[in-house]
Amino acid sequence: MAIPNQFIDELIHRCDILEIVSRYVTLKKQGSNYVGLCPFHNEKTPSFSVNAGKQLFYCFGCHTGGGIIQFIMKIENIPYRDAIEVLAKQAGMTIPEDKIGSEYRKKRERQKKLNRDAARFFYSCLTSEESREGYDYLRRRQISDNTIRRFGLGFAPNAWDRLMSAMIREGYEKSELLDVGLIVEGKGGHVYDRFRNRVMFPIIDLRGDVIGFGGRVIDDSQPKYLNSPETAVFSKGRNLFAMNLVKKERTDELLLAEGYMDVIALHQAGFRTAVASLGTALTSDQAKMMRHYASAVTIVYDADAAGQTATARAIDILRAAGLTVRILRVPDSKDPDEFIKKNGADAFRNLLSGTQGDLTYRLSRLIGPDGLTTPEAKTKYLTDAAALLSTVTEPVERDVYIRKVAQDTDSSADALTLQVNKAIKARQKKARGEELRRVANPVRMVQPKARELRFDNPKAARAEERILALLFHDLALCKTLRRENIDSAHFTVPLYRKTVEQLLEYFDRNESVTLDGLSQEMTDAETSQLAAILAQTPVTEAERVMSDCIDVLKMEHIQENLSLEELIRAKK
Ligand code: UTP
Ligand code: MN
Repeated sequence: MAIPNQFIDELIHRCDILEIVSRYVTLKKQGSNYVGLCPFHNEKTPSFSVNAGKQLFYCFGCHTGGGIIQFIMKIENIPYRDAIEVLAKQAGMTIPEDKIGSEYRKKRERQKKLNRDAARFFYSCLTSEESREGYDYLRRRQISDNTIRRFGLGFAPNAWDRLMSAMIREGYEKSELLDVGLIVEGKGGHVYDRFRNRVMFPIIDLRGDVIGFGGRVIDDSQPKYLNSPETAVFSKGRNLFAMNLVKKERTDELLLAEGYMDVIALHQAGFRTAVASLGTALTSDQAKMMRHYASAVTIVYDADAAGQTATARAIDILRAAGLTVRILRVPDSKDPDEFIKKNGADAFRNLLSGTQGDLTYRLSRLIGPDGLTTPEAKTKYLTDAAALLSTVTEPVERDVYIRKVAQDTDSSADALTLQVNKAIKARQKKARGEELRRVANPVRMVQPKARELRFDNPKAARAEERILALLFHDLALCKTLRRENIDSAHFTVPLYRKTVEQLLEYFDRNESVTLDGLSQEMTDAETSQLAAILAQTPVTEAERVMSDCIDVLKMEHIQENLSLEELIRAKK
Protein backbone atom coordinates (compact mmCIF):
# COMPACT_ATOMS: atom_id res chain seq x y z
CA MET A 1 0.00 0.00 0.00
CA ALA A 2 1.25 3.37 -0.92
CA ILE A 3 1.35 5.20 2.39
CA PRO A 4 5.00 6.05 3.04
CA ASN A 5 6.68 3.87 5.68
CA GLN A 6 7.97 6.93 7.44
CA PHE A 7 4.43 8.15 7.97
CA ILE A 8 3.31 4.81 9.40
CA ASP A 9 6.31 4.67 11.70
CA GLU A 10 5.63 8.14 13.03
CA LEU A 11 1.95 7.35 13.42
CA ILE A 12 2.67 4.19 15.41
CA HIS A 13 5.09 6.00 17.66
CA ARG A 14 2.60 8.75 18.33
CA CYS A 15 -0.19 6.34 19.19
CA ASP A 16 -0.34 4.61 22.54
CA ILE A 17 -1.57 1.04 22.18
CA LEU A 18 -2.63 0.94 25.84
CA GLU A 19 -4.83 3.96 25.47
CA ILE A 20 -6.36 2.68 22.24
CA VAL A 21 -7.02 -0.86 23.45
CA SER A 22 -8.38 0.44 26.75
CA ARG A 23 -11.28 2.01 24.92
CA TYR A 24 -12.51 -1.47 24.09
CA VAL A 25 -11.00 -3.71 26.75
CA THR A 26 -10.51 -3.27 30.48
CA LEU A 27 -6.84 -3.91 31.07
CA LYS A 28 -4.98 -4.84 34.23
CA LYS A 29 -1.24 -4.69 34.74
CA GLN A 30 0.42 -8.08 35.11
CA GLY A 31 4.20 -8.16 35.13
CA SER A 32 5.49 -6.22 32.18
CA ASN A 33 2.23 -6.74 30.26
CA TYR A 34 -1.37 -5.69 30.50
CA VAL A 35 -4.07 -8.34 30.34
CA GLY A 36 -7.82 -8.38 29.81
CA LEU A 37 -10.72 -10.33 28.36
CA CYS A 38 -10.16 -10.88 24.65
CA PRO A 39 -12.54 -8.83 22.48
CA PHE A 40 -12.09 -11.25 19.59
CA HIS A 41 -13.46 -14.35 21.25
CA ASN A 42 -15.72 -15.17 24.14
CA GLU A 43 -13.89 -15.93 27.37
CA LYS A 44 -14.21 -15.71 31.13
CA THR A 45 -10.55 -15.61 32.14
CA PRO A 46 -8.23 -13.12 30.47
CA SER A 47 -5.81 -14.44 27.84
CA PHE A 48 -5.53 -11.21 25.90
CA SER A 49 -2.29 -9.39 26.52
CA VAL A 50 -0.91 -6.04 25.46
CA ASN A 51 2.73 -5.15 25.50
CA ALA A 52 3.01 -1.38 25.59
CA GLY A 53 6.73 -1.21 25.04
CA LYS A 54 6.55 -3.26 21.88
CA GLN A 55 3.21 -1.80 20.80
CA LEU A 56 1.62 -5.18 20.19
CA PHE A 57 -1.26 -7.33 21.37
CA TYR A 58 -1.68 -11.07 21.40
CA CYS A 59 -4.39 -13.42 22.62
CA PHE A 60 -3.15 -16.75 23.99
CA GLY A 61 -6.68 -18.12 23.64
CA CYS A 62 -7.64 -17.40 20.03
CA HIS A 63 -4.14 -16.59 18.74
CA THR A 64 -5.14 -13.26 17.26
CA GLY A 65 -2.41 -10.69 17.39
CA GLY A 66 -0.77 -7.74 15.76
CA GLY A 67 0.09 -4.10 16.20
CA ILE A 68 -2.08 -1.03 16.64
CA ILE A 69 -3.24 -0.97 13.04
CA GLN A 70 -4.32 -4.62 13.12
CA PHE A 71 -6.16 -4.01 16.35
CA ILE A 72 -8.23 -1.21 14.84
CA MET A 73 -8.82 -3.19 11.63
CA LYS A 74 -10.14 -6.15 13.60
CA ILE A 75 -12.16 -4.41 16.24
CA GLU A 76 -13.80 -1.93 13.88
CA ASN A 77 -14.00 -4.42 11.04
CA ILE A 78 -12.45 -2.01 8.53
CA PRO A 79 -9.73 -2.32 5.89
CA TYR A 80 -6.08 -1.35 6.36
CA ARG A 81 -6.25 2.10 4.85
CA ASP A 82 -9.34 3.06 6.84
CA ALA A 83 -7.66 1.94 10.06
CA ILE A 84 -4.73 4.20 9.32
CA GLU A 85 -7.15 7.04 8.69
CA VAL A 86 -8.86 6.48 12.06
CA LEU A 87 -5.53 6.48 13.88
CA ALA A 88 -4.15 9.45 11.95
CA LYS A 89 -7.20 11.48 12.81
CA GLN A 90 -6.80 10.71 16.52
CA ALA A 91 -3.11 11.52 16.40
CA GLY A 92 -3.78 14.76 14.57
CA MET A 93 -1.89 13.68 11.47
CA THR A 94 -2.98 13.78 7.86
CA ILE A 95 -2.05 11.00 5.49
CA PRO A 96 0.22 12.49 2.83
CA GLU A 97 -1.83 12.36 -0.34
CA ASP A 98 0.70 10.42 -2.28
CA LYS A 99 -0.19 9.79 -5.88
CA ILE A 100 -1.16 6.17 -5.57
CA GLY A 101 -3.10 6.76 -2.36
CA SER A 102 -5.31 9.46 -3.80
CA GLU A 103 -5.74 7.44 -6.98
CA TYR A 104 -6.80 4.44 -4.94
CA ARG A 105 -9.35 6.51 -3.09
CA LYS A 106 -10.66 8.09 -6.29
CA LYS A 107 -10.90 4.69 -7.89
CA ARG A 108 -12.93 3.31 -4.99
CA GLU A 109 -15.24 6.29 -4.98
CA ARG A 110 -15.80 5.87 -8.69
CA GLN A 111 -16.48 2.16 -8.36
CA LYS A 112 -19.15 2.87 -5.79
CA LYS A 113 -20.65 5.53 -8.01
CA LEU A 114 -20.70 3.09 -10.89
CA ASN A 115 -22.49 0.51 -8.73
CA ARG A 116 -25.01 3.13 -7.66
CA ASP A 117 -25.65 4.15 -11.27
CA ALA A 118 -26.04 0.50 -12.21
CA ALA A 119 -28.57 0.02 -9.39
CA ARG A 120 -30.52 3.01 -10.71
CA PHE A 121 -30.43 1.51 -14.18
CA PHE A 122 -31.71 -1.86 -12.93
CA TYR A 123 -34.45 -0.13 -10.95
CA SER A 124 -35.57 1.85 -13.98
CA CYS A 125 -35.69 -1.36 -16.02
CA LEU A 126 -37.85 -3.05 -13.41
CA THR A 127 -40.38 -0.26 -13.52
CA SER A 128 -40.33 0.29 -17.30
CA GLU A 129 -43.00 -1.09 -19.58
CA GLU A 130 -40.43 -2.71 -21.86
CA SER A 131 -39.36 -5.48 -19.51
CA ARG A 132 -42.31 -6.46 -17.40
CA GLU A 133 -41.07 -9.99 -16.67
CA GLY A 134 -39.02 -8.90 -13.68
CA TYR A 135 -41.82 -6.89 -12.14
CA ASP A 136 -44.32 -9.68 -12.78
CA TYR A 137 -41.98 -12.16 -11.11
CA LEU A 138 -41.69 -10.07 -7.95
CA ARG A 139 -45.45 -9.59 -7.99
CA ARG A 140 -45.97 -13.34 -8.18
CA ARG A 141 -43.79 -13.60 -5.09
CA GLN A 142 -46.03 -11.04 -3.39
CA ILE A 143 -43.44 -8.32 -3.09
CA SER A 144 -45.02 -4.90 -2.82
CA ASP A 145 -44.00 -1.68 -4.56
CA ASN A 146 -43.01 -0.32 -1.19
CA THR A 147 -40.66 -3.20 -0.57
CA ILE A 148 -39.20 -2.82 -4.05
CA ARG A 149 -38.37 0.80 -3.28
CA ARG A 150 -37.11 0.10 0.22
CA PHE A 151 -34.61 -2.48 -1.03
CA GLY A 152 -33.97 -0.76 -4.35
CA LEU A 153 -34.75 -3.96 -6.25
CA GLY A 154 -34.22 -3.97 -10.00
CA PHE A 155 -34.14 -6.04 -13.17
CA ALA A 156 -31.32 -6.84 -15.59
CA PRO A 157 -32.87 -7.14 -19.08
CA ASN A 158 -32.53 -10.25 -21.19
CA ALA A 159 -29.75 -8.94 -23.46
CA TRP A 160 -25.94 -9.06 -23.65
CA ASP A 161 -24.99 -5.42 -23.28
CA ARG A 162 -27.87 -3.28 -22.06
CA LEU A 163 -26.15 -2.29 -18.82
CA MET A 164 -22.77 -1.94 -20.51
CA SER A 165 -24.03 0.46 -23.16
CA ALA A 166 -26.01 2.48 -20.63
CA MET A 167 -22.99 2.88 -18.38
CA ILE A 168 -20.64 3.70 -21.25
CA ARG A 169 -23.12 6.39 -22.28
CA GLU A 170 -22.76 7.78 -18.76
CA GLY A 171 -19.03 8.06 -19.27
CA TYR A 172 -17.65 4.86 -17.68
CA GLU A 173 -14.89 2.79 -19.23
CA LYS A 174 -15.16 -0.92 -19.97
CA SER A 175 -12.23 -1.52 -17.65
CA GLU A 176 -14.19 0.05 -14.80
CA LEU A 177 -17.19 -2.18 -15.47
CA LEU A 178 -14.84 -5.17 -15.44
CA ASP A 179 -13.29 -4.04 -12.15
CA VAL A 180 -16.63 -4.07 -10.31
CA GLY A 181 -17.68 -7.32 -11.99
CA LEU A 182 -20.71 -5.90 -13.80
CA ILE A 183 -19.39 -7.22 -17.11
CA VAL A 184 -17.32 -10.31 -17.79
CA GLU A 185 -14.71 -11.09 -20.40
CA GLY A 186 -15.36 -14.19 -22.49
CA LYS A 187 -12.96 -16.24 -24.57
CA GLY A 188 -11.55 -14.15 -27.40
CA GLY A 189 -11.76 -11.00 -25.32
CA HIS A 190 -15.33 -9.93 -26.01
CA VAL A 191 -17.20 -8.59 -23.02
CA TYR A 192 -20.84 -8.87 -21.97
CA ASP A 193 -23.15 -8.11 -19.02
CA ARG A 194 -22.71 -10.46 -16.06
CA PHE A 195 -26.33 -10.16 -14.98
CA ARG A 196 -28.94 -10.94 -17.64
CA ASN A 197 -32.62 -11.68 -17.24
CA ARG A 198 -32.44 -11.58 -13.47
CA VAL A 199 -34.14 -9.64 -10.70
CA MET A 200 -31.45 -7.64 -8.95
CA PHE A 201 -30.75 -7.16 -5.25
CA PRO A 202 -28.32 -4.33 -4.57
CA ILE A 203 -25.98 -4.97 -1.63
CA ILE A 204 -25.49 -1.82 0.39
CA ASP A 205 -22.84 -1.29 3.05
CA LEU A 206 -23.22 0.48 6.38
CA ARG A 207 -22.36 3.83 4.85
CA GLY A 208 -25.14 3.47 2.29
CA ASP A 209 -22.91 2.77 -0.70
CA VAL A 210 -23.88 0.13 -3.25
CA ILE A 211 -20.97 -2.32 -3.22
CA GLY A 212 -22.31 -5.30 -5.17
CA PHE A 213 -25.34 -7.22 -6.39
CA GLY A 214 -27.14 -10.50 -6.15
CA GLY A 215 -29.29 -11.52 -9.09
CA ARG A 216 -32.00 -14.21 -9.24
CA VAL A 217 -33.27 -15.93 -12.37
CA ILE A 218 -36.98 -15.55 -13.00
CA ASP A 219 -37.36 -19.09 -14.32
CA ASP A 220 -35.68 -22.41 -13.57
CA SER A 221 -32.31 -21.69 -15.17
CA GLN A 222 -29.06 -22.17 -13.33
CA PRO A 223 -27.44 -20.84 -11.33
CA LYS A 224 -30.44 -19.64 -9.38
CA TYR A 225 -28.52 -16.79 -7.78
CA LEU A 226 -25.49 -15.01 -9.16
CA ASN A 227 -23.47 -12.61 -7.02
CA SER A 228 -20.92 -9.91 -7.77
CA PRO A 229 -17.38 -11.23 -7.42
CA GLU A 230 -15.06 -9.99 -4.67
CA THR A 231 -13.84 -6.55 -5.74
CA ALA A 232 -11.96 -3.63 -4.23
CA VAL A 233 -15.23 -2.38 -2.75
CA PHE A 234 -17.07 -5.66 -2.14
CA SER A 235 -16.12 -8.35 0.32
CA LYS A 236 -18.80 -11.00 0.86
CA GLY A 237 -17.50 -12.10 4.22
CA ARG A 238 -17.46 -8.60 5.65
CA ASN A 239 -20.97 -7.47 4.80
CA LEU A 240 -24.53 -8.53 5.54
CA PHE A 241 -27.53 -8.11 3.33
CA ALA A 242 -29.94 -5.44 4.71
CA MET A 243 -27.67 -4.42 7.59
CA ASN A 244 -27.85 -0.87 6.25
CA LEU A 245 -31.58 -0.87 6.99
CA VAL A 246 -31.47 -2.88 10.20
CA LYS A 247 -28.89 -0.69 11.89
CA LYS A 248 -31.44 2.13 11.94
CA GLU A 249 -33.93 -0.01 13.86
CA ARG A 250 -32.12 0.34 17.21
CA THR A 251 -32.88 -3.21 18.15
CA ASP A 252 -31.03 -5.51 20.47
CA GLU A 253 -32.08 -8.68 18.70
CA LEU A 254 -31.47 -9.61 15.08
CA LEU A 255 -32.89 -12.31 12.83
CA LEU A 256 -30.40 -14.17 10.69
CA ALA A 257 -31.83 -15.78 7.54
CA GLU A 258 -30.19 -17.72 4.73
CA GLY A 259 -31.20 -15.76 1.67
CA TYR A 260 -32.17 -12.48 0.07
CA MET A 261 -35.79 -13.45 -0.41
CA ASP A 262 -36.20 -14.53 3.21
CA VAL A 263 -34.90 -11.21 4.44
CA ILE A 264 -37.18 -9.30 2.10
CA ALA A 265 -40.25 -11.34 3.05
CA LEU A 266 -39.45 -10.91 6.75
CA HIS A 267 -39.08 -7.15 6.46
CA GLN A 268 -42.27 -6.89 4.46
CA ALA A 269 -44.10 -8.85 7.15
CA GLY A 270 -42.89 -6.40 9.78
CA PHE A 271 -39.77 -8.22 11.04
CA ARG A 272 -37.46 -5.40 10.17
CA THR A 273 -34.37 -6.74 11.94
CA ALA A 274 -33.59 -9.56 9.51
CA VAL A 275 -30.22 -9.84 7.77
CA ALA A 276 -28.52 -12.55 5.71
CA SER A 277 -25.00 -13.50 4.74
CA LEU A 278 -24.20 -13.10 1.07
CA GLY A 279 -24.28 -16.45 -0.68
CA THR A 280 -21.49 -17.85 1.54
CA ALA A 281 -21.34 -19.41 4.98
CA LEU A 282 -21.47 -17.03 7.93
CA THR A 283 -18.09 -15.54 8.88
CA SER A 284 -16.79 -14.28 12.21
CA ASP A 285 -16.47 -10.80 10.71
CA GLN A 286 -20.19 -10.84 10.04
CA ALA A 287 -20.87 -12.04 13.58
CA LYS A 288 -18.78 -9.17 14.92
CA MET A 289 -20.74 -6.73 12.80
CA MET A 290 -23.96 -8.06 14.35
CA ARG A 291 -22.49 -7.85 17.85
CA HIS A 292 -21.80 -4.20 17.18
CA TYR A 293 -25.53 -3.51 16.91
CA ALA A 294 -27.21 -6.17 19.02
CA SER A 295 -26.61 -8.70 21.75
CA ALA A 296 -28.85 -11.54 20.56
CA VAL A 297 -29.48 -13.31 17.27
CA THR A 298 -32.23 -15.71 16.29
CA ILE A 299 -31.22 -18.03 13.48
CA VAL A 300 -34.03 -18.71 10.99
CA TYR A 301 -32.32 -20.89 8.41
CA ASP A 302 -33.98 -23.27 5.98
CA ALA A 303 -35.60 -26.39 7.44
CA ASP A 304 -33.66 -28.81 5.20
CA ALA A 305 -30.57 -30.76 6.27
CA ALA A 306 -28.22 -28.21 4.70
CA GLY A 307 -29.93 -25.44 6.63
CA GLN A 308 -29.58 -27.34 9.91
CA THR A 309 -25.90 -28.05 9.33
CA ALA A 310 -25.41 -24.36 8.61
CA THR A 311 -27.31 -23.57 11.83
CA ALA A 312 -24.92 -25.67 13.92
CA ARG A 313 -21.96 -23.83 12.39
CA ALA A 314 -23.55 -20.42 12.82
CA ILE A 315 -24.26 -21.07 16.53
CA ASP A 316 -20.56 -21.50 17.22
CA ILE A 317 -19.56 -18.43 15.25
CA LEU A 318 -22.20 -16.21 16.83
CA ARG A 319 -21.47 -17.41 20.35
CA ALA A 320 -17.76 -16.88 19.85
CA ALA A 321 -18.58 -13.27 19.01
CA GLY A 322 -20.36 -12.95 22.34
CA LEU A 323 -23.93 -13.09 21.05
CA THR A 324 -26.83 -14.86 22.72
CA VAL A 325 -28.23 -17.32 20.21
CA ARG A 326 -31.73 -18.66 19.68
CA ILE A 327 -32.92 -20.99 16.96
CA LEU A 328 -36.22 -20.92 15.19
CA ARG A 329 -37.16 -23.98 13.19
CA VAL A 330 -39.80 -23.30 10.57
CA PRO A 331 -42.24 -26.21 10.62
CA ASP A 332 -43.74 -27.66 7.44
CA SER A 333 -42.02 -25.14 5.20
CA LYS A 334 -38.82 -24.80 3.28
CA ASP A 335 -37.87 -21.40 4.63
CA PRO A 336 -39.27 -18.36 6.50
CA ASP A 337 -40.42 -16.73 3.24
CA GLU A 338 -42.58 -19.74 2.45
CA PHE A 339 -43.84 -20.04 6.01
CA ILE A 340 -45.00 -16.44 6.15
CA LYS A 341 -46.70 -16.77 2.78
CA LYS A 342 -48.55 -19.88 3.93
CA ASN A 343 -49.36 -18.91 7.50
CA GLY A 344 -49.04 -15.16 7.80
CA ALA A 345 -47.02 -12.78 9.93
CA ASP A 346 -48.85 -13.55 13.19
CA ALA A 347 -48.05 -17.23 12.95
CA PHE A 348 -44.41 -16.32 12.50
CA ARG A 349 -44.55 -14.02 15.50
CA ASN A 350 -45.85 -16.96 17.51
CA LEU A 351 -42.94 -19.09 16.40
CA LEU A 352 -40.59 -16.34 17.37
CA SER A 353 -41.90 -16.17 20.90
CA GLY A 354 -41.31 -19.89 21.33
CA THR A 355 -37.74 -20.07 20.06
CA GLN A 356 -35.30 -22.51 21.61
CA GLY A 357 -32.12 -21.42 23.28
CA ASP A 358 -29.07 -22.81 21.54
CA LEU A 359 -28.52 -25.28 24.37
CA THR A 360 -31.93 -26.89 23.90
CA TYR A 361 -31.29 -27.00 20.18
CA ARG A 362 -27.88 -28.58 20.61
CA LEU A 363 -29.18 -31.11 23.09
CA SER A 364 -31.91 -32.12 20.67
CA ARG A 365 -29.34 -32.66 17.96
CA LEU A 366 -27.43 -35.11 20.15
CA ILE A 367 -30.27 -37.61 19.89
CA GLY A 368 -29.54 -40.11 17.14
CA PRO A 369 -32.03 -41.21 14.46
CA ASP A 370 -33.21 -44.14 16.60
CA GLY A 371 -34.22 -41.96 19.50
CA LEU A 372 -33.60 -43.09 23.08
CA THR A 373 -35.27 -46.48 22.98
CA THR A 374 -32.26 -48.72 23.67
CA PRO A 375 -30.14 -48.50 26.83
CA GLU A 376 -27.07 -47.98 24.61
CA ALA A 377 -28.63 -45.01 22.83
CA LYS A 378 -29.72 -43.51 26.11
CA THR A 379 -26.29 -43.92 27.72
CA LYS A 380 -24.61 -42.34 24.73
CA TYR A 381 -27.03 -39.43 24.76
CA LEU A 382 -26.55 -38.82 28.47
CA THR A 383 -22.75 -38.95 28.15
CA ASP A 384 -22.77 -36.48 25.24
CA ALA A 385 -25.26 -34.26 27.01
CA ALA A 386 -23.10 -34.21 30.15
CA ALA A 387 -20.09 -33.18 28.07
CA LEU A 388 -22.11 -30.37 26.49
CA LEU A 389 -23.57 -29.21 29.81
CA SER A 390 -20.12 -29.15 31.38
CA THR A 391 -19.32 -26.21 29.08
CA VAL A 392 -22.13 -24.12 30.58
CA THR A 393 -20.42 -21.66 32.91
CA GLU A 394 -23.39 -20.39 34.92
CA PRO A 395 -24.23 -22.92 37.71
CA VAL A 396 -27.92 -22.03 37.79
CA GLU A 397 -28.35 -22.44 34.05
CA ARG A 398 -26.42 -25.69 34.20
CA ASP A 399 -28.64 -27.03 36.92
CA VAL A 400 -31.82 -26.13 35.03
CA TYR A 401 -30.67 -28.07 31.99
CA ILE A 402 -29.42 -31.04 34.00
CA ARG A 403 -32.90 -31.38 35.53
CA LYS A 404 -34.54 -31.03 32.15
CA VAL A 405 -32.38 -33.69 30.50
CA ALA A 406 -32.90 -36.03 33.46
CA GLN A 407 -36.63 -35.53 33.27
CA ASP A 408 -36.81 -35.96 29.48
CA THR A 409 -34.87 -39.22 29.65
CA ASP A 410 -36.50 -40.43 32.82
CA SER A 411 -33.15 -40.80 34.58
CA SER A 412 -31.56 -39.60 37.80
CA ALA A 413 -30.58 -35.94 38.03
CA ASP A 414 -28.01 -36.80 40.70
CA ALA A 415 -26.21 -39.25 38.46
CA LEU A 416 -26.20 -36.76 35.63
CA THR A 417 -24.84 -34.03 37.94
CA LEU A 418 -22.00 -36.36 38.94
CA GLN A 419 -21.21 -37.02 35.33
CA VAL A 420 -21.25 -33.30 34.47
CA ASN A 421 -19.02 -32.43 37.43
CA LYS A 422 -16.57 -35.08 36.35
CA ALA A 423 -16.36 -33.50 32.92
CA ILE A 424 -15.89 -30.04 34.45
CA LYS A 425 -13.06 -31.29 36.67
CA ALA A 426 -11.30 -32.89 33.72
CA ARG A 427 -11.58 -29.66 31.78
CA GLN A 428 -10.24 -27.56 34.65
CA LYS A 429 -7.36 -29.91 35.17
CA LYS A 430 -6.44 -29.65 31.52
CA ALA A 431 -6.65 -25.86 31.59
CA ARG A 432 -4.49 -25.69 34.72
CA GLY A 433 -1.91 -27.90 33.07
CA GLU A 434 -1.78 -25.62 30.07
CA GLU A 435 -1.47 -22.57 32.28
CA LEU A 436 1.39 -24.17 34.23
CA ARG A 437 3.20 -25.05 31.05
CA ARG A 438 2.75 -21.51 29.84
CA VAL A 439 4.22 -19.99 32.98
CA ALA A 440 7.04 -22.49 33.35
CA ASN A 441 8.11 -22.25 29.78
CA PRO A 442 7.43 -18.78 28.42
CA VAL A 443 9.58 -19.25 25.35
CA ARG A 444 7.74 -22.17 23.92
CA MET A 445 7.34 -23.32 20.39
CA VAL A 446 4.63 -21.36 18.68
CA GLN A 447 2.47 -23.78 16.79
CA PRO A 448 1.59 -22.63 13.30
CA LYS A 449 -2.06 -21.62 13.29
CA ALA A 450 -2.27 -21.01 9.60
CA ARG A 451 -2.30 -24.10 7.47
CA GLU A 452 -0.01 -22.43 4.94
CA LEU A 453 2.69 -22.32 7.62
CA ARG A 454 4.11 -25.81 7.75
CA PHE A 455 7.43 -26.34 9.44
CA ASP A 456 9.59 -28.69 7.41
CA ASN A 457 12.30 -28.42 10.03
CA PRO A 458 10.78 -27.77 13.48
CA LYS A 459 14.16 -27.61 15.17
CA ALA A 460 15.35 -24.84 12.90
CA ALA A 461 11.96 -23.10 13.08
CA ARG A 462 12.19 -22.96 16.85
CA ALA A 463 15.66 -21.41 16.72
CA GLU A 464 14.45 -18.93 14.11
CA GLU A 465 11.56 -17.90 16.31
CA ARG A 466 13.86 -17.28 19.25
CA ILE A 467 16.17 -15.20 17.12
CA LEU A 468 13.26 -13.10 15.81
CA ALA A 469 11.99 -12.47 19.34
CA LEU A 470 15.47 -11.47 20.50
CA LEU A 471 16.05 -9.13 17.55
CA PHE A 472 12.64 -7.55 17.93
CA HIS A 473 13.39 -6.87 21.55
CA ASP A 474 16.88 -5.54 20.91
CA LEU A 475 17.65 -4.71 17.31
CA ALA A 476 21.31 -4.16 18.11
CA LEU A 477 21.66 -7.95 18.28
CA CYS A 478 21.65 -7.83 14.47
CA LYS A 479 25.36 -7.19 14.87
CA THR A 480 25.76 -10.74 16.16
CA LEU A 481 24.04 -12.13 13.08
CA ARG A 482 26.33 -10.11 10.85
CA ARG A 483 29.41 -11.18 12.77
CA GLU A 484 28.45 -14.81 12.42
CA ASN A 485 27.64 -14.43 8.73
CA ILE A 486 24.05 -15.44 9.24
CA ASP A 487 21.56 -14.02 6.77
CA SER A 488 18.02 -14.77 5.70
CA ALA A 489 19.18 -17.72 3.59
CA HIS A 490 19.82 -19.59 6.83
CA PHE A 491 16.15 -19.33 7.79
CA THR A 492 13.95 -22.24 6.74
CA VAL A 493 10.45 -20.81 7.31
CA PRO A 494 9.57 -18.36 4.49
CA LEU A 495 7.70 -15.99 6.82
CA TYR A 496 10.64 -15.88 9.21
CA ARG A 497 13.06 -15.37 6.34
CA LYS A 498 11.04 -12.39 5.15
CA THR A 499 10.91 -11.02 8.68
CA VAL A 500 14.59 -11.30 9.44
CA GLU A 501 15.35 -9.54 6.15
CA GLN A 502 13.15 -6.67 7.21
CA LEU A 503 14.67 -6.55 10.70
CA LEU A 504 18.14 -6.30 9.19
CA GLU A 505 16.94 -3.44 7.00
CA TYR A 506 15.56 -1.58 10.00
CA PHE A 507 18.88 -2.14 11.71
CA ASP A 508 20.82 -0.80 8.72
CA ARG A 509 18.62 2.29 8.52
CA ASN A 510 19.06 2.74 12.25
CA GLU A 511 15.27 2.87 12.72
CA SER A 512 13.21 1.40 15.51
CA VAL A 513 10.93 -1.47 14.63
CA THR A 514 7.24 -2.13 15.34
CA LEU A 515 5.00 -5.04 14.45
CA ASP A 516 2.83 -2.66 12.45
CA GLY A 517 5.85 -1.75 10.37
CA LEU A 518 6.82 -5.38 9.81
CA SER A 519 3.41 -6.69 8.94
CA GLN A 520 2.34 -4.25 6.26
CA GLU A 521 2.37 -6.83 3.51
CA MET A 522 1.47 -9.87 5.57
CA THR A 523 -1.76 -11.81 5.81
CA ASP A 524 -3.78 -11.87 9.03
CA ALA A 525 -2.58 -15.34 9.89
CA GLU A 526 1.05 -14.36 9.31
CA THR A 527 0.69 -11.28 11.48
CA SER A 528 -0.87 -13.27 14.32
CA GLN A 529 1.88 -15.87 14.07
CA LEU A 530 4.48 -13.14 14.34
CA ALA A 531 2.66 -11.48 17.24
CA ALA A 532 2.69 -14.82 19.06
CA ILE A 533 6.46 -15.01 18.72
CA LEU A 534 7.17 -11.41 19.55
CA ALA A 535 4.85 -11.35 22.56
CA GLN A 536 7.05 -13.83 24.38
CA THR A 537 8.77 -12.75 27.55
CA PRO A 538 12.29 -11.64 26.76
CA VAL A 539 14.97 -14.03 28.00
CA THR A 540 17.90 -13.11 30.14
CA GLU A 541 21.33 -13.86 28.75
CA ALA A 542 20.23 -12.86 25.30
CA GLU A 543 23.72 -13.14 23.82
CA ARG A 544 24.12 -16.73 24.96
CA VAL A 545 20.69 -17.82 23.73
CA MET A 546 21.38 -16.03 20.48
CA SER A 547 24.60 -17.88 19.92
CA ASP A 548 22.95 -21.22 20.78
CA CYS A 549 20.27 -20.54 18.19
CA ILE A 550 22.84 -19.48 15.64
CA ASP A 551 24.65 -22.79 16.16
CA VAL A 552 21.40 -24.64 15.49
CA LEU A 553 20.84 -22.68 12.30
CA LYS A 554 24.35 -23.34 11.09
CA MET A 555 24.07 -27.07 11.75
CA GLU A 556 20.71 -27.38 10.12
CA HIS A 557 21.89 -25.31 7.16
CA ILE A 558 24.89 -27.51 6.57
CA GLN A 559 22.83 -30.66 6.86
CA GLU A 560 20.22 -29.46 4.45
CA ASN A 561 22.77 -28.47 1.87
CA LEU A 562 24.62 -31.71 2.37
CA SER A 563 21.62 -33.80 1.72
CA LEU A 564 20.93 -31.74 -1.37
CA GLU A 565 24.42 -32.44 -2.67
CA GLU A 566 24.04 -36.10 -1.87
CA LEU A 567 20.79 -36.11 -3.72
CA ILE A 568 22.41 -34.61 -6.78
CA ARG A 569 25.27 -37.07 -6.57
CA ALA A 570 22.87 -39.96 -6.29
CA LYS A 571 21.05 -38.82 -9.39
CA LYS A 572 24.16 -38.81 -11.58
P1 UTP B 1 -31.83 -20.78 -1.46
O1 UTP B 1 -31.64 -21.71 -2.57
O2 UTP B 1 -32.34 -21.28 -0.15
O3 UTP B 1 -32.72 -19.65 -2.04
O4 UTP B 1 -30.47 -20.02 -1.22
P2 UTP B 1 -33.90 -18.81 -1.40
O5 UTP B 1 -33.32 -17.73 -0.57
O6 UTP B 1 -34.92 -19.68 -0.78
O7 UTP B 1 -34.43 -18.11 -2.70
P3 UTP B 1 -35.77 -18.34 -3.46
O8 UTP B 1 -36.83 -18.29 -2.41
O9 UTP B 1 -35.70 -19.63 -4.18
O10 UTP B 1 -35.77 -17.18 -4.38
C1 UTP B 1 -30.21 -19.20 -0.12
C2 UTP B 1 -29.14 -18.20 -0.46
O11 UTP B 1 -27.97 -18.84 -0.96
C3 UTP B 1 -27.36 -18.08 -1.98
C4 UTP B 1 -28.19 -16.82 -2.11
O12 UTP B 1 -27.60 -15.81 -1.30
C5 UTP B 1 -29.52 -17.23 -1.58
O13 UTP B 1 -30.27 -16.14 -1.12
N1 UTP B 1 -27.32 -18.79 -3.27
C6 UTP B 1 -28.25 -19.75 -3.58
C7 UTP B 1 -26.37 -18.45 -4.19
O14 UTP B 1 -25.52 -17.58 -3.95
N2 UTP B 1 -26.36 -19.09 -5.42
C8 UTP B 1 -27.29 -20.03 -5.76
O15 UTP B 1 -27.26 -20.54 -6.89
C9 UTP B 1 -28.24 -20.39 -4.80
MN1 MN C 1 -36.95 -19.39 -0.64
